[in-house]
Amino acid sequence: MYKILKQVENSRFFDVLIIGSGAAGNSLALQLPTDMQIGLISKTELHEGSTYYAQGGISAVLSNIDSINQHVEDTVDAGAGLCKEDIVKNVAKESKKIIEWLSHQGVEFTKNESDPKNNLHLTKEGGHTYARIVHADDKTGEVIQESLIEKIKKQRNIELFTHHVAVDLIINKNSDNKEKKCIGAYILNKKNNLINVFKAKFVVIATGGANKVYLYTSNPDTSSGDGIAMAYRAGCDIANMEFMQFHPTCLFHHKAKSFLISESLRGEGGRLLLPNGKEFMHKYDSRGVLAPRDIVARAIDREMKTYGLDYVLLDISHKESSFIKKRFPNIYSKCLKYNIDITKQAIPVVPATHYTCGGINININARTNIKNLYAIGEAAHSGLHGANRMASNSLLECIFFSKKVIEDIQKNKDMNTKDDYNEIKNNKNKIISEEVLIKHSWKEIRTLMWDYVGIVRSNDRLIKAKSRILLFKKEIEESFDNNEISSDLIELRNLVYIAEIIIESALQRKESRGLHYNIDYPETLSTAQDTIININNEILSKKYQEK
Ligand code: FAD
Ligand code: SIN
Repeated sequence: MYKILKQVENSRFFDVLIIGSGAAGNSLALQLPTDMQIGLISKTELHEGSTYYAQGGISAVLSNIDSINQHVEDTVDAGAGLCKEDIVKNVAKESKKIIEWLSHQGVEFTKNESDPKNNLHLTKEGGHTYARIVHADDKTGEVIQESLIEKIKKQRNIELFTHHVAVDLIINKNSDNKEKKCIGAYILNKKNNLINVFKAKFVVIATGGANKVYLYTSNPDTSSGDGIAMAYRAGCDIANMEFMQFHPTCLFHHKAKSFLISESLRGEGGRLLLPNGKEFMHKYDSRGVLAPRDIVARAIDREMKTYGLDYVLLDISHKESSFIKKRFPNIYSKCLKYNIDITKQAIPVVPATHYTCGGINININARTNIKNLYAIGEAAHSGLHGANRMASNSLLECIFFSKKVIEDIQKNKDMNTKDDYNEIKNNKNKIISEEVLIKHSWKEIRTLMWDYVGIVRSNDRLIKAKSRILLFKKEIEESFDNNEISSDLIELRNLVYIAEIIIESALQRKESRGLHYNIDYPETLSTAQDTIININNEILSKKYQEK
């Protein structure tokens, strides 16, 4: 039992406890039977999280020239040998129904102007053979979140807990002491800094990715990998965390924090240029600017390092100004705020971390290796994305696996729920840790990850990063034990766990594949294997190293 049991407020019971209110958590909450009591937890406001900022859209097989097989082939190709093909097929097959379900929830996707009655407009992104991205202009995530949240607020069986942070899972071992079972979570109420004990028949982690572990990211502050770190501490298998995806094109501007310039801008004809106006992507891949993300991000990194550049340029100004303003209203207005008129000039861009391809290992039913504990969305590793996620497959995955959880829960919903958990100690009178120390460690960890565990890695840098991170971890765990916990301290603790898991996973992979590139192992091995990390089972990782 962790020593975090302090600052206690009260105890509650739910049928299903969903931690996270992005596309994954919200779509799950909405589809569960209305006779189930659901607790839906969100770290900040209900809408906040990566979903809200999604621009490009959702991939789906809708056009006559496209096929499920082609969607599968493209996904598997981008995934560099590590996609689970049965999962990819299942997800691609459901894509049309998922779009229909979203439309039914009130999501208004952009129509095809030549046939607005019947067809949605489809755009293209990296790795996709055909145009297959359904979108709501360039603010797909915002439109999805608004529609889902409007419905959620009307549903009486869903109790909302905004500004509540999950700290750790509550895990019981069965009487034979073998099978672990999740029976709830400790939840910090940020408004009074007290901890609630929320017990549930089923717990679902939908906390999003871990991209905030890097200094530069396209993600909002919520992406600190809390769910993955909690699951790791509880004994879940964590898979393939070395595959952190860098989006090739985030706005480079000293005042713009993490603003993405959607890949669909390249899908609609945008060109990548060096500051001298020369194109370069053809040197790296025949698909040019629409090659999969790992290839484009590495190419930009290489050009920037070769010529000592701070950024490269993304240019769509050769297109009609009216088209640009209509198709990309969000990007147009945001850039204009920084005095960049994208109808007249190119946009300075740099790669930044964007997506966590690895995560909590789940099966086709979204189950983890701990009983009654599920994981969905970016926090999970389902095998859909392999070593490099193809653009716009993520929102699809969120909704696909929320449906899987429902099917699985319905089969088991009448199960016995009488569980004990260790008594909690009221331990209120701790010292609040100094904010300056938290901020400093936060910045150092993220800078270290950016400099030592970035797009291109080496054994030397990884080993150095590991020894530094272990020192941080010891210090942070001490603070966690000895100080009153706060939301910032919880995130910092999770961040250091995530850094350790990424570095450990990267060290275990003795090859370069997809998003993981190590100059000491530039080749790709003939057999592709997942990297699985488990806090209780070092043998698992050793086995991998021997192969
Ligand atoms: P999120 O939407 O990140 O939600 C996580 C939720 O968990 C939040 O509610 C947060 O408050 C909560 N949470 C986290 N930790 C805790 C905690 N400890 N306690 C309580 N609550 C917690 N994908 C696509 O398919 N198409 C796109 O066009 C696209 N564009 C993108 C653009 C941007 C800028 C970004 C950042 C990502 C984009 N992605 C896109 C990726 C995609 O948006 C995400 O992978 C997806 O939205 C993740 O959804 P989620 O529900 O898993 O997590
Ligand atoms: C984008 O619009 O470029 C992001 C798409 C994605 O991450 O899937």
